[in-house]
Amino acid sequence: MVSFQEGPLTDRVYRTYLLMHTNQTVEFVRKKNEEYGGCSLRRMTIMEALDLLDNVVDESDPDVDFPNSYHAYQTAEGIRKAHPDKDWFHLVGLLHDMGKILALVGEPQWAVVGDTFPVGCKVQDSVVFRESTFHDNPDTKNPLYNTEYGIYQPHCGLQNVLMSWGHDEYMYKVMKHNKFTLPQEAFYMIRFHSFYPWHTGGDYMHLCDEEDLQMLPWVKEFNKFDLYTKSEDLPDPQELKPYYQSLIDKYCPGQLSW
Ligand SMILES: [Fe+2]
Ligand SMILES: [Fe+2]
Repeated sequence: MVSFQEGPLTDRVYRTYLLMHTNQTVEFVRKKNEEYGGCSLRRMTIMEALDLLDNVVDESDPDVDFPNSYHAYQTAEGIRKAHPDKDWFHLVGLLHDMGKILALVGEPQWAVVGDTFPVGCKVQDSVVFRESTFHDNPDTKNPLYNTEYGIYQPHCGLQNVLMSWGHDEYMYKVMKHNKFTLPQEAFYMIRFHSFYPWHTGGDYMHLCDEEDLQMLPWVKEFNKFDLYTKSEDLPDPQELKPYYQSLIDKYCPGQLSW
């Protein structure tokens, strides 16, 4: 999520969103869903994926410049302190950004990181840099895609909405494909954690169904820990590993398809 302060990273953030808002179209999203939906990239464990994550830099994030695995452990530990009884929620913290490994198989930053938004309908006000980044996106000139509802029916549910392609949707697909035994809330939090225009901006309610509204408080609850655990106080992964390995063994063990 973008905070609008001046800073050395601000230009880089803007450029990432300009590319994203130019190139994320219905056609592009459909293509990526197809390309990655079968999870046939490679086989590896969660811990192997977590190690890989350290090679990814998130160019949409103005706040952090340290390895992603620290952010994963920090988020998880923040949740663990606040919700000690919900072990599945702790694991969500660890897993939530793992889809960023897409950046390591050649996907550009604008198709991996940053806030997400629905394609196929009019872009709503709270989408970041909305005024200055969509002018070259062909969908904004297509009458099928640029009305309030575009290709969707009123309150069709977010599960029927095509979201801009990135690490949220990819990780959701990995979880589904490998049949993680986590509760529905966990799937939901990971799939929509970057959908700031919805969970923080309050937009796109005209596409939501009952289930979305029930899940919204969970997405908001998760977001607290995603945001405010980006501190200098770095966790010690070696010390934490055994606990998280036990959660992996419980909910998503062994070699997984990515
Ligand atoms: Fe994320
Ligand atoms: Fe995150």
